[in-house]
Amino acid sequence: MALRPIITLGDPRLRLPGRPVVKFDRELGELIDDMIETMDAAPGVGLAAQQIGLDLQLCVIRVDDELYEVANPEILHLSGEEGAWEGCLSVPGYRAWRWRAEHAVMTGQDRHGRRVNVSGHGYLARAIQHEFDHLHGELYLDALPEDAEILTEEELDERLEAEREDAAAPD
Ligand code: NI
Repeated sequence: MALRPIITLGDPRLRLPGRPVVKFDRELGELIDDMIETMDAAPGVGLAAQQIGLDLQLCVIRVDDELYEVANPEILHLSGEEGAWEGCLSVPGYRAWRWRAEHAVMTGQDRHGRRVNVSGHGYLARAIQHEFDHLHGELYLDALPEDAEILTEEELDERLEAEREDAAAPD
């Protein structure tokens, strides 16, 4: 296993739509292991092949200690709506308020080519949508409305801290 360098905004490889994974061999398994190691070391909740410079339909997601590896994913269902501060390992240091479906169901294949389904609410639903977008060369910043707020992580920390103090202050 090996850590792979994560490429960042401005690198054109992030914009490559993924080719389907067709060979479910040992090489694919090793690539997936590298992606898991790279995601966990970052640390992050998801990593798409584009983020290590590969134009493949392949991503890994880890939310609530559940690990998912998905090749050739399709989104089967999206419903509800939820806003949250979203970030990306390929856009280090920033967060933007992004609306996403609150529930998402993804289907795809694991390293052996077996069918896998990933279904989740909230944070997992967000990760499913975020990684799926990466596989089509899209970043979470692309679909923000014009008036969306993009903050540095420091600015966001300060804001959340101020909100906590407001909430704690007696009337
Ligand atoms: Ni990302």
